[in-house]
Amino acid sequence: MGSLTPVPDQETPTGEVVPGPAPPPDPSPATPRVAASDIDLIPWDHDSAEHHARLLAQRKACGWRTDEMDEWGRLSREGSKTFYWIRDILAKHAARFPHESAPILDTAASAWGLPRQPPPPPPPPDRSPRSFVPVGHFALVRSRPEEEARIGLAGQRAAWVCHLYVSWALQSFGLGKAGMLRLEDEARAPPLEAPVIALDTMPAEYQMRPDLIEKLYIQQGNPAPRMSNQHWYERLGYETFFHEQGAYLWLNPATGQKEPIDVAYLKKVLK
Ligand SMILES: CC(C)(COP(=O)(O)OP(=O)(O)OC[C@H]1O[C@@H](n2cnc3c(N)ncnc32)[C@H](O)[C@@H]1OP(=O)(O)O)[C@@H](O)C(=O)NCCC(=O)NCCS
Repeated sequence: MGSLTPVPDQETPTGEVVPGPAPPPDPSPATPRVAASDIDLIPWDHDSAEHHARLLAQRKACGWRTDEMDEWGRLSREGSKTFYWIRDILAKHAARFPHESAPILDTAASAWGLPRQPPPPPPPPDRSPRSFVPVGHFALVRSRPEEEARIGLAGQRAAWVCHLYVSWALQSFGLGKAGMLRLEDEARAPPLEAPVIALDTMPAEYQMRPDLIEKLYIQQGNPAPRMSNQHWYERLGYETFFHEQGAYLWLNPATGQKEPIDVAYLKKVLK
């Protein structure tokens, strides 16, 4: 991945954003390592304690929005918000080679004629055909007309992407990009049939401020981002159209206090 400097947009006093110059070309290869067709969108089961606990664990690992699970359960039940799991891509291998899908044990006691200590056996795996290992998640939300009118998207019937997270252990392998493309397909299809997909994230220059990287990532035990989320979404064809100062209240786990965070809104027309 080349080093990429975010190009600031020009913001008007009303919060509207006039796009800045296009980001410099990225020297890294554009081919996704995982294709959108490799991603199964498996809905979160809002009635399952297991799904609830796993989503909370992933929100904690992500470091954002750990305190909204009850609200999400309600929105999911009423049909205005749907979370999806990003499934372990091993499922793709298992679908093509089902006879190779069961785990085998690491038992070799020697290699190159030298003794080797295999690890202790893990707990027995669940071999149910319905089992899967979620390695991330995100949610799609139905259009929010009042919110959309407030930020300049009146009448656009946007679908909203929220809470994207890919396991810190599996980032930069293409899962996030493939997942976003797959989610865009979902937003185009019934029941949403959205002409536009939108999301919010921290503005690039704000997210990459050393004091915020320290507070939001390092102190949470996570690595500093090498690229801002805003720039990451722009590379997927999203365009920034609005900025708002202090629009999101982040719960600082160290202090228990909610702290205001600046927000950039991005959208992409779905063709
Ligand atoms: C943002 C996030 C979802 C990206 O997911 P990911 O699976 O790591 O991203 P991908 O591997 O699909 O990235 C796609 C492209 O961005 C590049 N990329 C990903 N992470 C990068 C990084 N840290 N620095 C530079 N480039 C990166 C990849 O190389 C890839 O480039 P390519 O298309 O040229 O091949 C993930 O980093 C994440 O979950 N972060 C923590 C939570 C978060 O910030 N969510 C967003 C909330 S708005």
